[in-house]
Amino acid sequence: MSIAAEFSGVSQVFGDFTAVDSIDLAITEGKLTTLLGPSGCGKTTSLRMLAGYSAPSSGTITIAGVDSTRTPPEKRGLGMVFQSYALFPHMSVAENVGYGLKLRRVPAAERQKTVMETLDLVGLAHLAGSKPKKLSGGQQQRVALARAIAIKPKLLLLDEPLSNLDARLRVQMRAEIRRIQSETGLTVVLVTHDQDEALEMSDDMVLMRAGRIMQQGSPQDVFRGPANRFVADFLGYENFVTTADGRAIAIRPEHLEVSAATPAGSADGLRLAGTITDVAFRGVDLLVTVDAVDDSGASVRLLSDVRSTGVDTLAVGDTVTVGAAPGRLVALAD
Ligand SMILES: Nc1ncnc2c1ncn2[C@@H]1O[C@H](COP(=O)(O)OP(=O)(O)OP(=O)(O)O)[C@@H](O)[C@H]1O
Ligand SMILES: [Mg+2]
Repeated sequence: MSIAAEFSGVSQVFGDFTAVDSIDLAITEGKLTTLLGPSGCGKTTSLRMLAGYSAPSSGTITIAGVDSTRTPPEKRGLGMVFQSYALFPHMSVAENVGYGLKLRRVPAAERQKTVMETLDLVGLAHLAGSKPKKLSGGQQQRVALARAIAIKPKLLLLDEPLSNLDARLRVQMRAEIRRIQSETGLTVVLVTHDQDEALEMSDDMVLMRAGRIMQQGSPQDVFRGPANRFVADFLGYENFVTTADGRAIAIRPEHLEVSAATPAGSADGLRLAGTITDVAFRGVDLLVTVDAVDDSGASVRLLSDVRSTGVDTLAVGDTVTVGAAPGRLVALAD
């Protein structure tokens, strides 16, 4: 697999604030890579440096093997879609999509052909002559995508492109972008702070915190093997306990069993005694909060997502056993 773009020791400093802190990151060609992390962790700053809209304070950015750290945006051959996708209101859909080609002086006949092919790809050929304001949010988003793709970019950069769409449309567009990416073989870098979006869409997921990369890997690997407590927490592991010999363990709420009668879990997994402090009915499941003391002697608050229908008897104040099978215990590095 070849590398489409690479950050080496890249930092971005604003005054005395370090927004991106010496990151090393390789973007694989033909894959969809997401930059994921909480607000302010440096995702947009990283993408803007890749696009050339701001120069790193230090470090180098290589695109297709060429040092492009100081290359202006228009010379990088990248397509970009922002959260506010700002179509040109006075131009038709086709003119919007053809805009970048016109700037590059592509002859009219060839331009027309590329515009229609690209509109076909995003399923909007029938709206080629419409003005953007007649389109729904999702359709406008597709036009913005088509406009970025039409120039056949080396890299397509998307900064929270779905955040203006309503929840259902957002989920549809995830699959749509995935399809377009696999049909075109484009290298895509997508910024999001939504872990579900990242898990569903990525080939490669990069988790950031405070300007640093916490973990990079496939969604499966990162989800099942979070490197540290921050990543586990961000991906919905709710339970953190320390073993008697000092190992840090994370357990997902859906893997933590609560039992009033017989001890839950198994002898070589986790098994702790505790007291129920809250039971929340959530339709398909119950979220049960249990206060316990772990094997290191620390007080812990545990959350169990109970899906069984036979647990209506669990009530606040009950003494219970919580447990998890050995395979459900995820060891953390810190
Ligand atoms: N031009 C700037 N001048 C000063 N500080 C900046 C500038 N641009 C970004 N920052 C700061 O750098 C940090 C990272 O910002 P960035 O926009 O990269 O975050 P983000 O991960 O994209 O967050 P969000 O999910 O909210 O979009 C933030 O604390 C932000 O306030
Ligand atoms: Mg941002």
